[in-house]
Order: sequence, then C-alpha cells, then structure tokens
Amino acid sequence: MATGEDGGDPAILFRMRISKSRDCALELLRRTSDISRAILYASRLVAATRPSIDNLKKDMTMTIALMPLPYAQDALEPHISSKTLEIHHGAHHKTYVDKLNAAIAGTENEGKSVEEIAKAASGPLFNNSAQTWNHGFYWHSLSPEKTAPSESLAAAITNDFGSMDALLEALSNEAVNHFSNGWAWLVVEGGKLKVISTHDADSALVKDVTPLLTVDVWEHAYYIDQMNKRPAYVKAVLENILNWKFASDNFDRGTAWTYPA
Ligand SMILES: [Fe+2]
Repeated sequence: MATGEDGGDPAILFRMRISKSRDCALELLRRTSDISRAILYASRLVAATRPSIDNLKKDMTMTIALMPLPYAQDALEPHISSKTLEIHHGAHHKTYVDKLNAAIAGTENEGKSVEEIAKAASGPLFNNSAQTWNHGFYWHSLSPEKTAPSESLAAAITNDFGSMDALLEALSNEAVNHFSNGWAWLVVEGGKLKVISTHDADSALVKDVTPLLTVDVWEHAYYIDQMNKRPAYVKAVLENILNWKFASDNFDRGTAWTYPA
C-alpha cells in the first residue's frame, strides 16, 4: 500500500472522510510501533476526519434511542420473566426504534421527538413511532417496588370508580377482553378517570386524554411466561407490579409522559 508524503495513507484517509469509520485510523496506528509517529498520525487523522466526526455526532444526537429499562431485566420476576423482558425490550421494542430511525433518516422528521412524529404520522411511520412511545410508557407503568397512588389520584379513584378494586376490575376486563393485539390504558378524559383500550399500535398519546398507565396485551408481552393465558399475565401485572407512582406523577402533572430524547 502506498504511503503518502505526510506519513498517512491517502487511500485510507479518503476512505475515512467518506465512511465515518474508525477502522482506518486503527489500521494506520497498527502500522507503526513508533509511538511518537503513531501520535503524529492520530493528530493528523483527527484533523482530516473532523467533518466526519462532526457528522457522526450529529447523527448520534438525531437518532431516537432505545430507552433502557428503568429497572434490572430480572426485577419483575416472578410476574414477568427476565427472558420475556430480554425479548420484549431487546428485540420487539428495539425493532420499532430501529425502523423508526430508518424511516426518519434524511427526512423532515429527523430531529423531531417521538411524540411529534406519532401525532402527525400515519401508516408504518405511525406504527413504529407509536410503538416506540407505547413501550417506553409501558416500561414505566411497571415497577418491582410496591407503590401506591398519591393522595390526589387516590381521591379521584374513589370518586370515579368507587374503589381501587373496582378500578382494577375494570382495567382487567378491558385488558383481558381486548380483541387481539393492543393496549389497555388508565387515562384522564374530560377530568374523569377512565379505562380504555387501543388496537395494535394505536396509542392514548394521540387521543384527547392524559394517559396514566398502560398494560401491553400483545401476545409477545406474555407468551414466553404464560403461553396463551392472557388473564394470568394481566392478573400478575395488576396485582403486583403496576407503578402507581408513575400514574400519580402523570395525574398530578396533567400532561402526557415524554419519551427520553
Ligand atoms: Fe409489546
């Protein structure tokens, strides 16, 4: 391989400029055992690839992230297994995020929030942006720690449902009986607590409501643990791991949760 007069390889430098790759820099550094020359190469390469590095930083900041689970992957056991969360978060949620990023790359949606995109989108772009948001909201709707509604939310539950048991029965009925894939939600609509469900990727985010909690009733949420027994999954979630602190924060704030930027 020919070496340029400046000590670097012109072909490698060119590839770096157009590919944003670190591999060429490592290749150049591997070609000398002289540390002072290696440092010289590195400084020249940083200068030569500055535009690529800037673009890479820009790409990273413009990309919607797969938000991490707000607890350890095994934290919800025995109610939801580590394997279920591994697949649900690391494969299903990740796929929605990846498809969303692929769809918005180089479009006017690049740099917009998940909420902005979902509220204006239709078709596959809506499906992937809404599912990205729905899953983030769902992870927060669950908690390994026992939580309780705030004083204000507890008062609203008593006022609008009569009791927590009545609310849980309504949410259970909605989640268990929802036909096929979708989401069961506790929301505030017109100042009243209400239980609703949405089909497939459809989301309370794009309704005229404030979502407080959700339960994913897609089969991928429970099939590993419960096979086809959705009622067993719903019962385990509702009786053990609903995050009432998250619901209370949403209720007291009065606006929808936002997906982390
Ligand atoms: Fe899901």
